[in-house]
Amino acid sequence: MPAAVSTFVGRDAELAQLAGALVRHRIVTIVGPGGMGKTRLATEACARLADRFPGGVLRSELAQVSPRAEIGDEVAGALGFPSLEALLVGLGDAPALLLLDNCEHVLAAARRLGARVLDASPRLRLLATSREPLALDGEQVLVLGPLALPQSSDPRDLESASATRLFEDRARGAGASLDASPAELAARAELCRRLDGVPLAIELAAARARSLTSVEILALLGRRFDLLARREPVGLARHRSLRAAIDTSYELLDAGEQRFFRALGVLGGPFSAALAHAVAAPEGADALATVDLLARLVDRSLVVAEAAGGATRYRLLDSLRDYAAERARDAGEWDADADRFVRAMLAEADAIVATGSVRWTSELLARVLAHFDAIAAAIERAIEVDADAARALRLLLPLWAATHQGRASEVAAAGERVLARWPAG
Ligand SMILES: Nc1ncnc2c1ncn2[C@@H]1O[C@H](COP(=O)(O)OP(=O)(O)OP(=O)(O)O)[C@@H](O)[C@H]1O
Ligand SMILES: [Mg+2]
Repeated sequence: MPAAVSTFVGRDAELAQLAGALVRHRIVTIVGPGGMGKTRLATEACARLADRFPGGVLRSELAQVSPRAEIGDEVAGALGFPSLEALLVGLGDAPALLLLDNCEHVLAAARRLGARVLDASPRLRLLATSREPLALDGEQVLVLGPLALPQSSDPRDLESASATRLFEDRARGAGASLDASPAELAARAELCRRLDGVPLAIELAAARARSLTSVEILALLGRRFDLLARREPVGLARHRSLRAAIDTSYELLDAGEQRFFRALGVLGGPFSAALAHAVAAPEGADALATVDLLARLVDRSLVVAEAAGGATRYRLLDSLRDYAAERARDAGEWDADADRFVRAMLAEADAIVATGSVRWTSELLARVLAHFDAIAAAIERAIEVDADAARALRLLLPLWAATHQGRASEVAAAGERVLARWPAG
């Protein structure tokens, strides 16, 4: 297996979890969005666990394999065997570990191959990485999340959080001399947060650190897809830019899923299935169809689902949301999507105000806080697409209730933006 040349950062808990899962299960799949570090974690685990597998550790890299029904012979060939049959004989019955790396574009073929090798070699363990689970019998899915982010911009926090450590390591490696002023440290912490703790995005940002300060990189993040791209063609094509990394996932969606995903780009903050339905579903669609679409995007690691207080909340990583929004604008759908979103949040805002005018309760305050980010995002959309201030002002009304909940500055900022857009309003 080729050894990694760059330093490996963090992931102690994930490595321990993976080591344990490979004791208990025959097939483990590391799943997560593009660039989250699935391949790097898997190869690191293979290197560390090699002693456990006297039959050998084999890695098959599938990123370059073109989609087709059977990939067994090609995989065997790359591993130095004349055919899949020869590979199965070669694996024998000594404990061995086979890594099928980057499976998402050949899922069905990888599933068949996996089932075949597990069946033929009773002591073989299979480790796969994929943006989507293989859906193989007995598969244990390990969902890989972001690198740890710093809690504050204290230098010790930046030193101990793996996201900022990766940034600093790669920036220094590129010849940057990092400045440790408070503004720079704060910008670096915020940069890693805005990049969702995704290692690929952090590495691409760090590649800019030789000619830009962290404050400057952060200021340019509104154009993240132009900023986060390598000029020299090294490594996997899909890792040369943040856009390319997401393109490969987007292109695996069917047309209906792509349209739905684009429309989700208009939402701000976490959202419910009901809101996704109101904003992103085709006219007249069944609510259950929206739940299915969300489930498919969760499977493909494009949407995160989190259960909280008995309800599922969905969200998009910032980069994925910006990508979806960019695609929606290119497709000429943005204004209509923004209008649907504003209307959905207006219904919520009006209902809160109407209920509150009768009696103000702690439940109502909780409702304001739960919808705060979405209403604030709807105000931004109204500022962008509306001809007058009417809807933006109506959206602002319920937010006043949150000014005593530590959100006064956000409410004030939203109000100022509305007044700046419509000075006479
Ligand atoms: N823990 C880590 N320490 C250091 N570098 C990392 C770490 N995790 C990921 N990286 C780096 O981030 C980049 C992306 O990681 P990786 O290729 O593992 O992502 P991936 O999840 O497999 O992406 P894809 O879905 O496109 O296959 C690589 O350059 C990798 O070396
Ligand atoms: Mg990978």
